[in-house]
Parts: sequence; structure tokens; C-alpha cells
Amino acid sequence: MTPAAIIDAVVMIELHRVCKVYHVGPVSIPALSDVSFSLAKGEFAVLTGPSGAGKTTLLRLLYRDDVPSEGEVHVLGQDLRTLGGRRVAALRRSLGVVFQDAKLLPGRTVYENIAFVLRVTGTPRRQITARAFDALRAVGLSARAQAYPAQLSQGEAQRAALARAIVRKPALLLADEPTGNLDGDMAAEVLDVIKDVWQGGTTVLFATHQAPLAAELGRRTLTLLGGRLVKDEG
Ligand SMILES: Nc1ncnc2c1ncn2[C@@H]1O[C@H](COP(=O)(O)OP(=O)(O)OP(=O)(O)O)[C@@H](O)[C@H]1O
Ligand SMILES: [Mg+2]
Repeated sequence: MTPAAIIDAVVMIELHRVCKVYHVGPVSIPALSDVSFSLAKGEFAVLTGPSGAGKTTLLRLLYRDDVPSEGEVHVLGQDLRTLGGRRVAALRRSLGVVFQDAKLLPGRTVYENIAFVLRVTGTPRRQITARAFDALRAVGLSARAQAYPAQLSQGEAQRAALARAIVRKPALLLADEPTGNLDGDMAAEVLDVIKDVWQGGTTVLFATHQAPLAAELGRRTLTLLGGRLVKDEG
């Protein structure tokens, strides 16, 4: 995928009749059933629904951590069915992902977790420190730069994961419960950071089971229930 192809993508996400069934021994679990929607460049959409509704499953299909059982998934203009390994890596470099469980590298400090992303994607050395600290400042975590993940509160770990996801100013931010472990004030601050990133031109898909938060955001809200997209409003 060339950078030009990514910049030209006007439809950032397109799902067509997506089903995802997990098989655990003899049991089939339909995690997503017949889900279709698209998200245009510049949108800020909230993906909501109760625990187990399929939010994480849907996001995992978008960064090609898993593949659908049926249906089509297009992200940044790419048909994920036909992407080979190298192109998957290129796709992921254009995405910012905040995982529900933070997934920080435990043997590296907060600073190193963020600098690592910049290093492996070829950021010039002299820019790395400044850019990593810009991202840490944005999430209010510069004072904890030298801490290891195990020394962070859950909320701090989530903010570190957000810093890592936004440090490269991704075309598309996929955030899975980025405020799930945070109290009201801190959740509002993290939300402000995500809104800033969105205003900077990043398209955002924000998953949360907290319905009031979704309502407060007042943007397009996609609601999953038992793996089905039951509402698409705003
Ligand atoms: N790897 C897996 N193997 C088997 N079943 C799975 C797997 N991942 C998810 N599921 C099942 O798929 C359904 C959807 O799970 P998912 O994690 O997508 O829900 P969610 O909306 O993100 O929930 P939460 O709000 O609790 O994070 C659930 O029934 C879950 O148990
Ligand atoms: Mg989830």
C-alpha cells in the first residue's frame, strides 16, 4: 500500500455483511452477525453495546488481528481479504490502536514503549524524544515517563497506551474502551485528547460499553447487541 493510496482513501472503514463465529470445541459463538456500515474520513463514531456485544471482535477485524468468517472488510481503501503480510504491516502503521488491555511492553518504560513505535517505523532519531514527550504531555503522563508498566495504575496504563497510539498521528484511531478504567475527570481528559486528535484530522472509532459516555459525545453512534448492529444514529 502506498502512502498516496492511504491519503486518497475517503471511506476509511467499510464492512459488508460481516459475520464472525468463534469455535470453542463443539460450541459455536456468533460474535458478529451480518454487520454492514461505513465510516468516512473525518468522522468520529462511537461503537457501543453491552459487554459481549462484539465491539472488540469488530475492532480486531479492522486491524487484521483476525479475519471474518463471512463478508468483506475494507480499511483505508484496502480489501483485508487480499492483503499479504507486508501490506498488513503497512496498514497497521497507518492505524493507531488502543487495546482494551493496554498491551504495553512490560520490560520497557513508558517512554521506551512510545519511542519504540517511532523507532520501528523509521522516525529520524533526533525527533524521537520530542515526539514521544509531546504524546506523553497530551495524555498528562510526562512525569511517569521512566516508570515501567507494572508501576502504573490502570488508568495511567491506558493513557500510556493512548499516547502510543497517537504518537504517529494515525489516519484512523481505533480505541477499545480507552476510558474503561478511568474515573470521571480522567475519562473526560482522555476524551479531550481523543477529540484533539480527531480535530487534527484523524478519523476515530471509539468503543465503549458506557452508554452515557456515548450519549455525551453526541456523535454518530453505532450500537451492537448480541453481535448485530441494531442502531446507527447521528
Ligand atoms: N477468541 C475468542 N474465542 C471465543 N469466543 C470469543 C473470543 N473473543 C470473543 N469471544 C466471544 O465473542 C463475543 C463478543 O466478544 P467481544 O470481546 O467482542 O465483546 P465486547 O463487546 O468487546 O465486550 P466487552 O464490553 O466486555 O469488552 C462474546 O460472547 C465473547 O465471549
Ligand atoms: Mg471488548
